[in-house]
Amino acid sequence: MKETFYVTTPIYYVNDIPHIGHAYTTIAADVLARYHRARGREVYFLTGTDEHGQKVERAAQERGISPKDHCDELVTRFQQLWEKLDIKLSYFIRTTDPEHELVVQKAMQMLHDQDLIKKKTYQGWYSTSSERFWMEKDLKDGKDPETGLPVEWISETNYFFLMSRYQQKLKDHLHENPHFIRPKSRYNEILGFLDRELDDLCISRPKSRLAWGIELPFDHEYVTYVWFDALLNYLSAIGYLKEDQSLFTYWPANFHLIGKDILTTHSVYWITMLFALNVPPPQCIFAHGWWTIEGRKMSKSLKNVVDPHLLIDSYGADAVRYFLLREVPFGNDGDFSHAAFIGRVNADLANDLGNALNRSVALTGRNFDGLVPTPRTEEDDQDRLLKNHAAGLLTQIGLNLGETIYTPESPGKESLNFSVALENIWSFIRFINKYIDTQAPWQLAKEGNKDRLATVLYNCLEALRVAAVYLAPFMPNKALQIIRILGLSPTFADQQQIIASELQFDTIKSWGHLPPGSKLISDEILFPRVEPEMVQNILSQILAIAENEEMAVNIFREIFPRYKITKAQTWVRKILGTDSFLTTPTPTPEKSRSKPDKKAGPPAPDSEVDYNTFARLDLRVAEVLEAERVKNSEKLIRLKVDIGSETRQIVAGIGKSFAPTDLISKKIVIVANLKPVKLMGLKSKGMLLAAGDEDDDVQLCLVSKNTKTGLRIK
Ligand code: ME8
Ligand code: MG
Repeated sequence: MKETFYVTTPIYYVNDIPHIGHAYTTIAADVLARYHRARGREVYFLTGTDEHGQKVERAAQERGISPKDHCDELVTRFQQLWEKLDIKLSYFIRTTDPEHELVVQKAMQMLHDQDLIKKKTYQGWYSTSSERFWMEKDLKDGKDPETGLPVEWISETNYFFLMSRYQQKLKDHLHENPHFIRPKSRYNEILGFLDRELDDLCISRPKSRLAWGIELPFDHEYVTYVWFDALLNYLSAIGYLKEDQSLFTYWPANFHLIGKDILTTHSVYWITMLFALNVPPPQCIFAHGWWTIEGRKMSKSLKNVVDPHLLIDSYGADAVRYFLLREVPFGNDGDFSHAAFIGRVNADLANDLGNALNRSVALTGRNFDGLVPTPRTEEDDQDRLLKNHAAGLLTQIGLNLGETIYTPESPGKESLNFSVALENIWSFIRFINKYIDTQAPWQLAKEGNKDRLATVLYNCLEALRVAAVYLAPFMPNKALQIIRILGLSPTFADQQQIIASELQFDTIKSWGHLPPGSKLISDEILFPRVEPEMVQNILSQILAIAENEEMAVNIFREIFPRYKITKAQTWVRKILGTDSFLTTPTPTPEKSRSKPDKKAGPPAPDSEVDYNTFARLDLRVAEVLEAERVKNSEKLIRLKVDIGSETRQIVAGIGKSFAPTDLISKKIVIVANLKPVKLMGLKSKGMLLAAGDEDDDVQLCLVSKNTKTGLRIK
C-alpha cells in the first residue's frame, strides 16, 4: 500500500472576507500536499468553512435571508480565491453539509452514552466575535481581549463535555511526543496552560438564543455549534463513523496547520475530544504566526486588509504564494509590505531565477539553434559540484517539508520550514548563475570549443529542469512554464490532473532526464520585473500615506531603488496627480503658502477658528527620551518621547537644524492626537511643534525643564 499524507487547514468562518491570513495557511497546506503527491504518496488535503454560530445567524437576520442561503452565497468567496491561488484540494468541507452534521450528532451521542456530557448551569462573559466565554479577569477594558469587541453576560443551563477528565492523559501525551505541537514555543505554551486545572467545555446553546447549529440528539431544545461542531470536520471529511472506511485510512492526520490564535482549541479541546472518542490524535499540530499589514492588526473593521485578489491580479498567484512562504519563517509573525513584496519578486524571481533561464535559453538559441545539446565532454569538478548540489537538495527540502525523519534524539521528528526550503532552492539557482559565470559559455563559443560549450549548456538546462521540479509545489504554474520552455511537454500523471509527469520527483533521481534535441521556447519571459506601470493601482494606495511629495518620492524609491529622484518624482506626480500635496498635511490658506518675503516681516495671522476647533487638538508637554537619525534621510530624526501617559515614536523633519544629541531630555510640545503616519517606513504618532520655514533654520517650541511631562496646553 502507498504511504498516505493527510493535511488540514482550519475551516474559516464563512462570513469573513478572505484575506492573506487565510491564504497563508491554505497555501502552506497546498505546498505540502503538492510536495507529498510529487513524492508519490496518497495525499488528502482538506479545507472548508465553519458556518454555524451567532455571527452568521445575526448577519443573515440583518439581510432578511435564511442562514443557509447566506452561507451558500458567502462560501463562494473562499472557493473562488482558492481556485485563483491554484489550491488543489481533495475536499472542501462545510459544517452545514448534512453528512458532517450527522457525524457530529453521532459523536455527541457516543459521548453522552458514556456519561462524558453533563448538563450544568453556567455564567460567564460571552464573546460573539470569538465564539467563546471569557473569565472576568481575562477581559481587557471589559471587552474581548483578542478582538477588542464587546462581550455579553450570559447565565444559562448548558451541556458540557467533561474535558477536565483528560487533563493528565493530555499532559502525558505531550511528554511522550515532544514534537506533537510545533513550533517548540507553542508546545511549551500548551504545557504551561495545562499546569492550571482545566474547565469543562460548554458545547451547547439553547435554541431560544441560537438556532443556527446542530441539534443535540439527546435534547431537542439545544444545538451545538462552533468548536465541538467545527473540530469534528477533520474526521467527518474522511468518513469517520461511516460504513465505508476506505478514506479513514488517512487518519491520523500528519499535520493540522493552524494560526496561533486557535492553538488551545486544537491542542486541548480537540485532542481531549479525540481521547474521549477513542480515536488516536493527529501526528502534529503546527501553529504558525500572525500577519500584520504595515505594522497593524488585520481585521475587517480596521479595513486595512490587503485584498488577495488585488495582489494576484497585480503580481500573479505564484508570486503571492512565493512571497508569503519565503518572507517569514513558518511559526514567526510577519508584516506585509508591498515594498518587500516587489523587492522579492524583482530580486529572487525576475533576477535570480528569470536570468538563469533567460541566459541558458538565449545561449542555446545562439549556438545550437535552440535545441538542447548533447553533452560531449567528460564531467569536470564544476560539473560535479552542480550535480551534487542538485542531488543534495532532496534531503534538505524534505527536512523542511514534513518528511518524517527518525533520529535517535528525535524519533519521528517532523518539521516545517518553508522559507528555509525556498532558501535551499535559491542557493541552487544562484549556483546555476555562478556556474554560467565561471564557465563563461560566450567565451567557449568565441574560442570555438563547441564540445565543452554543449556540456555546459546541457548542464544549465538540466539544472533548471531540476529546479523546476523542486519549485513545483510552491509555484506550480511557473514550474510548468519552465518545463515547457525547456521543450518538454507536460502530460499529467494522476487522474486528478495535478502533477505533470515531468514534475514528479522521480524525474530527478538521476542527472540527465532532459532529452537532448528538445526544442526550447525562446520568446517567453518567466517573471517580468515589476515596474511602476504594472502596479499603479497598488502604488496609488501606498503613496497616499505620504505627507508631502518628498516623502512620497522616498517611498517610491524604497520600492524601486533604481529610479533616480527626478524620475521617481515624475511617477509620483503621475500616480497621485500633480496637486495632491497642495492641501496636506494641514490645509493652509492660499496666500500663506508662498514663501514669505523675509524683509516684509512675518505674515498676518491666518483666518480665525473658534475655540472648539482649537480645543480638539491635544497639545502636550513631552520629554525626548531618545533621538537618532533615520537611515537614508537628511531631514528625518526618529524620537522616542514620553507624553505622560505613554511613550511613543515621532519622526520629525528637523534633521537639518538639529543633531540628535541636541534633543535628548528636552521638553517639547507635541500634537498628541494627530493621525499617525509612516515616514520612510517608520511610524510617527504625533507631531512636534516648531517654528521656521527654512529646513535648516528651525526653532523648537520648548518649555522649561521643570514643566510636568504630559501637561495639556490649552
Ligand atoms: O478560527 N495571520 O476561523 P477563522 C495569519 N472557524 N493567519 C491568519 C490571520 C493572520 N492575520 N488571520 C487568519 C476560526 N488567519 C475557526 C476555526 S477550525 C476547526 C475552526 C488564519 O476564520 C489562521 O490559519 O477565524 C487562523 O488560525 C485562521 O485563519 C482563523 O480563521
Ligand atoms: Mg479568528
